[in-house]
Amino acid sequence: MATNTSGQAKLAIRNAGKRYGAVVALEGCALEVEANTIVSIVGPSGCGKTTLLWSMSGLHALSEGEILLDGTPIVKPRPEIGLVFQEANLLPWRNLLGNILFPFEVKGQKPDRAWIDHLLERVNLKGFEKAFPNELSGGMQQRASIVRALSLRPSVLLMDEPFGALDAFTREEMNQLVEEIWLETQTTIVFITHSIEEALFLSDKVVVLTPRPGRVLNVYDVPFARPRTMEVMAGKDAFDLHHRIKADIYGQQRSGGGAAAEASGAAAAE
Ligand SMILES: Nc1ncnc2c1ncn2[C@@H]1O[C@H](COP(=O)(O)OP(=O)(O)OP(=O)(O)O)[C@@H](O)[C@H]1O
Ligand SMILES: [Mg+2]
Repeated sequence: MATNTSGQAKLAIRNAGKRYGAVVALEGCALEVEANTIVSIVGPSGCGKTTLLWSMSGLHALSEGEILLDGTPIVKPRPEIGLVFQEANLLPWRNLLGNILFPFEVKGQKPDRAWIDHLLERVNLKGFEKAFPNELSGGMQQRASIVRALSLRPSVLLMDEPFGALDAFTREEMNQLVEEIWLETQTTIVFITHSIEEALFLSDKVVVLTPRPGRVLNVYDVPFARPRTMEVMAGKDAFDLHHRIKADIYGQQRSGGGAAAEASGAAAAE
């Protein structure tokens, strides 16, 4: 399950650097994402998480380094890569189904209606196909945007704080939904979040980035079997992992990144 048939990582980030003028957002960032896994990326605000995700999506170019999908450099958006953002970004003048079908119309591609129906059922949106975005709750809009992304059957789903704007209860429901979808599709998912809890519930690995310029400070394996129960998530192992990740993030913020840089060197040397 760890790698695809050729043994290479699904996504390989190599020495990724990104500058916006004088601002160095990423520098020497290296990471491999194995096929059929969920990897969460956490780190202080402004450390380059979104920058990294956009680079993975092919929406913008790196200043240095490269990101490979199945061994091929990503230089532009690829159909195998789906995206979900914090905002659902539904078109307000199209109903829910119209929004899901929109990418197919743009691509001149025939939608798989049975698959779309199945996804709508799976996320509990059956019966709302004709509703317009302003008639849907935030959670429903975000579920629609997940269906829109998955309807194209991506092999990689990139999610940038997809549930950051939702209340805690809805967010937990959405986390369970992502877990269910993953158990069914095994889509490789890269998930950015500010919530360590969310990262631990969802991920096979949690990647902690340093403050800007972002690079990988530590990667934690999350060994819990799925589906993940409340008991496991409230247990000592989850608590310890949570604490270590939190210490990484807050320790760096307090030390202004110095400890982060040292730890990063140590992690790289492992
Ligand atoms: N288009 C841009 N032009 C100039 N600077 C940018 C641009 N996008 C991001 N930056 C800068 O790059 C750095 C990293 O930004 P990025 O959005 O990747 O951080 P982030 O980790 O996603 O933060 P947050 O957790 O707050 O979402 C920040 O200093 C930001 O100001
Ligand atoms: Mg961001």
